[in-house]
Amino acid sequence: MKVISVANRKGGVGKTTTAINIATALAAIEKKVVVIDLDPQGNATTSMGIKKEKHQKSTYEILIGECKANQAVIHTGVPNFDILPSSPDLAAAEIELVDMDKREYILKNTLKDMESEYDYAIIDCPPSLNLITINALVASNSVLVPLQCEFLALEGLADLMKNLNAIKRNFNHNLILQGIVLTMFSRQNNLSKMIEENVRKYFGDKVYNTVIPRSVRIAEAPSHGKPILIYDFKSVGAQAYINLAKEVLQREKEI
Ligand SMILES: Nc1ncnc2c1ncn2[C@@H]1O[C@H](COP(=O)(O)OP(=O)(O)O)[C@@H](O)[C@H]1O
Ligand SMILES: [Mg+2]
Repeated sequence: MKVISVANRKGGVGKTTTAINIATALAAIEKKVVVIDLDPQGNATTSMGIKKEKHQKSTYEILIGECKANQAVIHTGVPNFDILPSSPDLAAAEIELVDMDKREYILKNTLKDMESEYDYAIIDCPPSLNLITINALVASNSVLVPLQCEFLALEGLADLMKNLNAIKRNFNHNLILQGIVLTMFSRQNNLSKMIEENVRKYFGDKVYNTVIPRSVRIAEAPSHGKPILIYDFKSVGAQAYINLAKEVLQREKEI
């Protein structure tokens, strides 16, 4: 099982959208995929049309060691696509984790139970660098960074790279940057184009060729409980995510 974290310390940059659509594209080509929703807001869970039930096991119980990862699995309506749902309780997990033994490795250790069942685990990270995100990055083979083309995006990216390198040094020597994807891109917008140029200049081929356009259809899809790939397969947004998934797979082969 390859584990890919979708991470950025900023909120609203397209992490969740990217996580569930890459998962859908991989599932469509018969890869067994599990999305791990580590954001207390649970947007990946609700975007897949899954309600947060009181008695449902979630990534909270997994992280504090109250259940095993495979006990929380929910099948989504998409074949080959399972999810470990989030719960609002996850917001408290951070504090509870602090006193635990090997607190950075809890997710990594619990995912061992699922190794043989899935080809890919895609982790939807919260918008911060807390212990939950550290658990995600320690459990991952690679990290995929969605970047919204906006003012100060590059500064945020430089900070994120420092954080990733620190995690690599201290906890997970093998962690690789899968790539950076530009999201919510507007061709008409000069700032978007300028930022794209800069990001490509500094990060070179770490930036995927595929750019995700700003699209109303992508924004609508979650309210229908579906990834854009299923909500409107022919839309430019869906096609962009298919192309991105191809690049992700290609890089997985090279890694
Ligand atoms: N390419 C896009 N075009 C338009 N809206 C988008 C696009 N990608 C994401 N969105 C919307 O923007 C908001 C933030 O995206 P989301 O994936 O939830 O970001 P994050 O997980 O980083 O907070 C959501 O309402 C989502 O539906
Ligand atoms: Mg999110």
